[in-house]
Amino acid sequence: MKVNIFTDNLNTKIYGQNTVLFESLESTNKKMIEDLNNNIKLEEGSVYIALKQTSGKGSYGNTWHSDNNLGLWFSILLYSPFKKEALSFLPSIALSKCLREKYNTLAHVKWPNDVLVKNKKISGTLIQVTSTNNKNACIIGTGVNLYHEKKDFSLDIQHKATSLYMEIGNKVKLDTFYKDLIYYFEEVYNSDKSLAQYFREYSNMIGHTIKAKKDGKEVEALVKDITEEGYLIVETDKKIETWISRASLDIDTNY
Ligand code: BTN
Repeated sequence: MKVNIFTDNLNTKIYGQNTVLFESLESTNKKMIEDLNNNIKLEEGSVYIALKQTSGKGSYGNTWHSDNNLGLWFSILLYSPFKKEALSFLPSIALSKCLREKYNTLAHVKWPNDVLVKNKKISGTLIQVTSTNNKNACIIGTGVNLYHEKKDFSLDIQHKATSLYMEIGNKVKLDTFYKDLIYYFEEVYNSDKSLAQYFREYSNMIGHTIKAKKDGKEVEALVKDITEEGYLIVETDKKIETWISRASLDIDTNY
C-alpha cells in the first residue's frame, strides 16, 4: 500500500496533509512521541497510520489489539489550545458525525472518548501529551474497528464490541474511510460550535441514568450535562458531582 492513496483527493487544508504510513509498528502514538522527542519536525495535523500495531495501547494501560489489518489505527498531532479533556472527545464526535452522515450508521459518543453503535464499542481514543520545542503537543491516537467479525474479538469483549463491517455488511476501503474521517475531524475542529455543544448532540448520555463502577463500587448516576472543559456533571444520591476523568470509573455501555 502506498501512502499517496491516503493523501490524494484528501479534502482538508491541514489535517492529514502530512500522512506517514507504516506497514507494522509497535504503536502509532509511541512512534510519534519518540519522533517528537528526537526533534523530528512534524507540523500541526501530521498523521501516522499503521496497517498493524504489534503493541497497540489502550487507555489506562490496557492493550489495544491491533496486530491485524482489521481496522484504522492512527495518530494525529495537534499543538492545541484546547484542554486535553475537551480534546478527548473531538475524534469521537468527528467519527460519530462521519458514521451518521456518510455510512448511515447511528453512532454515539460515550464519555469521554469511545464511540458506540447500538451500545457496542466501535472506536476508542488515547490522547498523550509531550512537549517539544517549548510547545505542548497532543498525540491523538484513534482505533476504529472496520473489518472485524465477531470471532475476531477476544471472548471477553465479543458482547460489547462491533465493527463497521458488522454494522453495514460491507468492507469499506481503508483509505476511503480515512479520508472521510479526517475531513470530519477538520470540520469539527474548525467549527464555531464548542465541543460541549457537539457532545450534547452526539452523545445519548445526557438525561440518562448510567451505571458505573466508581473505585470498584457500583453507582447509578443521572447525567445532567457536560462542561466546556469536557467534564461530566452527574447526580448520584441527590448529590451533584463532576467527573473529570474516566480513570477510576468503569461505565456500563447500556444506558
Ligand atoms: C481505548 O479505548 O482504550 C483507546 C484505544 C486507542 C487505540 C489507538 S490505535 C492508534 C493509536 N496507537 C495506539 O497505540 N493506540 C491508539
